[in-house]
Amino acid sequence: MIEKVESQMNLLVEEVGYSRATELFKTLKGGKRLRAKLIFKIAPNAENAPRLGAIVELIHAASLLHDDVIDDAMTRRGVSSVNATQGSKTSIMLGDILYSKAFATLVEFDDSIASRIASAVTSLSVGEMIDVEMASSFNKDEDKYLEMIYLKTASLIEACSACGAILAGKDPEKFALYGKNLGLAFQIIDDILDITSDEETLGKPALNDFIEGKCTLPYIYLYEALDPVDKKRLTSCHSRKISDLDSEWIKEEMVKLKTIEKSYMLAQKLTQEAIEAVKGEKELVNILESMMKRNF
Ligand code: IPE
Ligand code: IPE
Ligand code: MG
Ligand code: MG
Ligand code: MG
Repeated sequence: MIEKVESQMNLLVEEVGYSRATELFKTLKGGKRLRAKLIFKIAPNAENAPRLGAIVELIHAASLLHDDVIDDAMTRRGVSSVNATQGSKTSIMLGDILYSKAFATLVEFDDSIASRIASAVTSLSVGEMIDVEMASSFNKDEDKYLEMIYLKTASLIEACSACGAILAGKDPEKFALYGKNLGLAFQIIDDILDITSDEETLGKPALNDFIEGKCTLPYIYLYEALDPVDKKRLTSCHSRKISDLDSEWIKEEMVKLKTIEKSYMLAQKLTQEAIEAVKGEKELVNILESMMKRNF
């Protein structure tokens, strides 16, 4: 199934008819293909599932091309990012080509599907903008963080699950709830891995979020748990390149005060809610489990 998704993606990019875009697209690595996987696991018998899978993976690839410019990230999926090798302008424009080609293809689908995916991309973009805006100061608000990650990450995963259900003639709301909770947990784990993993394993920069000003869940919980003097030390590290000493201190305090553990527990609770929503769908439970255990 994934091969069909890949060949549809290549076909769509080829159709754009611009060789430089085709060449650059070929240099992009594949990634986990989570969003396409959700569609064809939920709608295994739908003939057009690979086509929709290709559309959402083009959208996702476009969002990453823009995200790496936004986050000043020099690596992606284990190789240099497009903004690193070709510059930010090319990364943005290639992203625009992928987005618009995906939308042009989306109109082949029923309105109920096209509108869900298109609205999710609006949410994703709003979420990315809020993420950047929130990074201008040290965010201590967990609810604001959760609302932002819902928009930037969970909304598209929610839409993929719901649209898979529509293709399969299943209840979209049930699968939307699964996708929403999966998406929230997925971003929390991504934010944990930024702290606990390294660039080689991740295939993208590690410890970059806080430097970029992003106060992800383990930082929010850390702030809550520190005494006033250490709170000051933490906020003084915000949004700048910090010394090895400070980053070691942050990691140690996170372990000591169990803020990674606490963040992981919230992801686990959301995973449980996702499982509840689609009781008995073994394949979807497997996706959740491997997502929770992943190291990139
Ligand atoms: C990265 O998404 C951006 C986030 C929403 C965390 P993925 O972790 O799905 O990226 P790839 O597609 O596997 O590279
Ligand atoms: C971005 O989140 C999610 C998108 C919607 C693109 P991140 O900025 O945390 O994603 P990574 O870590 O660069 O993949
Ligand atoms: Mg990023
Ligand atoms: Mg980002
Ligand atoms: Mg990240």
